[in-house]
Amino acid sequence: MQETITQLRAAIEAHDLSTPEQLEQFRLAFTGRKGQLADLFDQLKTVPQEQRRAVGQELNQLKQLALDRFTQRQQELEATRENAPQNPEFDYTLPAPQALGTRHPLSLVREEMVRIFARIGFNVAEGPEIEDDWHNFTALNFPENHPARDMQDTFFVRRNPGEPKEDFLLRTHTSTVQVRVMESQAPPIRSIMPGRVYRNEAISARAHMMFHQVEGIFIDEGVSFADLKQTVYYFVQEMFGADINIRFRPSFFPFTEPSAEIDITCLICKGTGCNICKGSGWVEIGGCGMVDPAVLQHSGIDPEVYSGYAWGMGIERITMLKYQIKDLRLFTENDLRFLRQFEGIIS
Ligand code: DAH
Repeated sequence: MQETITQLRAAIEAHDLSTPEQLEQFRLAFTGRKGQLADLFDQLKTVPQEQRRAVGQELNQLKQLALDRFTQRQQELEATRENAPQNPEFDYTLPAPQALGTRHPLSLVREEMVRIFARIGFNVAEGPEIEDDWHNFTALNFPENHPARDMQDTFFVRRNPGEPKEDFLLRTHTSTVQVRVMESQAPPIRSIMPGRVYRNEAISARAHMMFHQVEGIFIDEGVSFADLKQTVYYFVQEMFGADINIRFRPSFFPFTEPSAEIDITCLICKGTGCNICKGSGWVEIGGCGMVDPAVLQHSGIDPEVYSGYAWGMGIERITMLKYQIKDLRLFTENDLRFLRQFEGIIS
């Protein structure tokens, strides 16, 4: 036993502790639970009674020696790791490489639209995505049997699955917020309403069941269609530049009279005709019109005193034209190769 202790002491003192790996070997060989010291402590009971105390003391001293060496070297190694580069080719003073986050193109365009309209006095209003029939349809003058209320277009939400009655729906347009603003404010009203809308459509390059609109409304005394046209001209020029052509195409919406669709020069082909504009050179960016007197009345505004215009535009459509994006699905797939192209655009 005595001889083993002497050899072990020599081994503990001689063990090379230059690297962290060697320190770990040292721990496993000597001080660890299955190390040689633990073995010797186990054998203590075989030592004759009269020597056991002395041998025990010696073993304890040896254990202390090993632990002291271990801890001291461990602290030294930690201090070197903290203070000095292990790899001299690595320059620790360089700023850490940081991946830049990107803003989603739809957010970029929404914010640009908000800024453009804010410059001519429009504020931003919001409303819920889960709506009732009144704000989505009835107040907006949709007749009871209008096909847009059909299950094909609208996602209905049942409050109680046992009951056949549909109480709520996912709004199909942001015109709902028009009604909410008119119900809660007195004219003059000048607001835009950006938001998400839902329709029960099959997803393709050109259609989605979820998309975004910016609705706008202006109500005051003596507002005319000429005011509406100037506002649209101003917006298109600010968004796309001065050399874009605009046309108003007569149309129908239950909540406006007269109504028009707004077309601009197709920016993908510059008006020469491509498959995005179906060869016409024009693309539609939204609908607009003079607010129907019945809609004003439903919201508690006197149509004898006030008139107003409104419009609704698709953010996806405007973003596709601005950034030449040819497939709607790219907006929701979160493909980094797509999103990274917008890196650093603060706009
Ligand atoms: N709500 C219409 C849609 O989703 C867009 C629209 C057209 C909004 C004319 C309006 C408007 O406010 O005046 O297709």
